[in-house]
Amino acid sequence: MTWLDRYHEDHKSVLLLLAKLEGNLTEMEKGQTRPNIMLEFEEFGDVIKQVIIPHFKAEEEDAYPKLVKLNPAATQFVDNMLEDHRKLHKAFKEYLAALGPANQDKLIKSGKIMLQLLMKHIEKEENALPELLKRAQKKPQ
Ligand SMILES: [Fe+2]
Ligand SMILES: [Fe+2]
Repeated sequence: MTWLDRYHEDHKSVLLLLAKLEGNLTEMEKGQTRPNIMLEFEEFGDVIKQVIIPHFKAEEEDAYPKLVKLNPAATQFVDNMLEDHRKLHKAFKEYLAALGPANQDKLIKSGKIMLQLLMKHIEKEENALPELLKRAQKKPQ
């Protein structure tokens, strides 16, 4: 298992949960609510706090510096990813606040924004990381 595998595994599991979240947001938007739907939105809130936020922290403190060390050309990519993290932290805050005394409109709006940002962010990391590392390995030591 390489240091990257752990990040890749998190990305895969979060993408699966995002597909479920997207379905739930669409259901709520159409007014087809189920008794457990709020519980599932709350569960995603726990995933944010217990998985995604620690994942971001580990990337910021471990993966990104490691990547830049291996391939200095990755600096721009890392800056871009850090900017995404900043936007996402704001989006998480809004989503978590909307869970409180459930406000459906706020939950749908903040959920959709967060979903799009997070999907794009994971896609960018998944697409760029293998290539940036491959280029780093080709360089003479
Ligand atoms: Fe990531
Ligand atoms: Fe990230």
